[in-house]
Amino acid sequence: MPLFHKKKRAAAQAPAPAHIAIIMDGNGRWAKKRGMPRTAGHAAGAETFRTVANHCKDIGVQYLTVYAFSTENWKRSPDEVEGIMGLLERYLHEALERMTRDRVKIEFFGDLSRLSPELQALCSRVRELSRSFESVQVNLCINYGGRDEILHAAKTFAARCAAGEARPEALDEETFSGLLYSAGIPDPDLIIRPSGEQRISNFLLWQAAYAEFYFTDVLWPDFGPAELDRAIAAFHGRSRRFGGVV
Ligand code: FPP
Repeated sequence: MPLFHKKKRAAAQAPAPAHIAIIMDGNGRWAKKRGMPRTAGHAAGAETFRTVANHCKDIGVQYLTVYAFSTENWKRSPDEVEGIMGLLERYLHEALERMTRDRVKIEFFGDLSRLSPELQALCSRVRELSRSFESVQVNLCINYGGRDEILHAAKTFAARCAAGEARPEALDEETFSGLLYSAGIPDPDLIIRPSGEQRISNFLLWQAAYAEFYFTDVLWPDFGPAELDRAIAAFHGRSRRFGGVV
């Protein structure tokens, strides 16, 4: 068998990355191409999210983090913001119904205090009820920004110092990581951005330090299990050195 095939086989059989993070981009363009409103693109994107989350569960990904709504997304029209919040609400209600069957753990990254009281209550309920589930953990980033997260952690630490509970010189990376929304969760191994854009857009700024990036022109609503497998195969073809020499 030619070497090329051997390499491909090895990649297909390699274990899935433990933590995959995705910037679900391209919903608006997907809708525009079809003469549909942007909210229809987000609805299609939410379906893709469901399919991809199930695939992650099937192939043994332990953590899936998705950027659902950024701290900057409030600048969009009230219709679009309401549309995305409505989709999140619908998805979380469905997740509650299927929770015991799917055993998916759901967490939230972001400042949820700006969400409606109903959505905040729903997030708390989902978090509480799924706390002990052991299949894939889905982290939904809502009103999330990487800089906002770092500032929030810095303020928490400063307040502890002011209260005499911590010392500035004792701050290390582990302590700081423990103050982020992602406390206790390993950093993402692979960050995927569809839709042709190649930037980080304030996503997981601290946690992305050694992540591998995968970009594709496919728009998020068209992204499926085959596309995820391609991203994982590309990931396995990379040499991760974490600043060292291999
Ligand atoms: C970016 O595409 C997408 C968003 C800002 C929203 C993502 C939200 C969802 C997929 C729906 C809710 C999520 C869940 C988990 C149920 P864009 O609008 O910037 O696309 P464009 O760049 O083509 O305009």
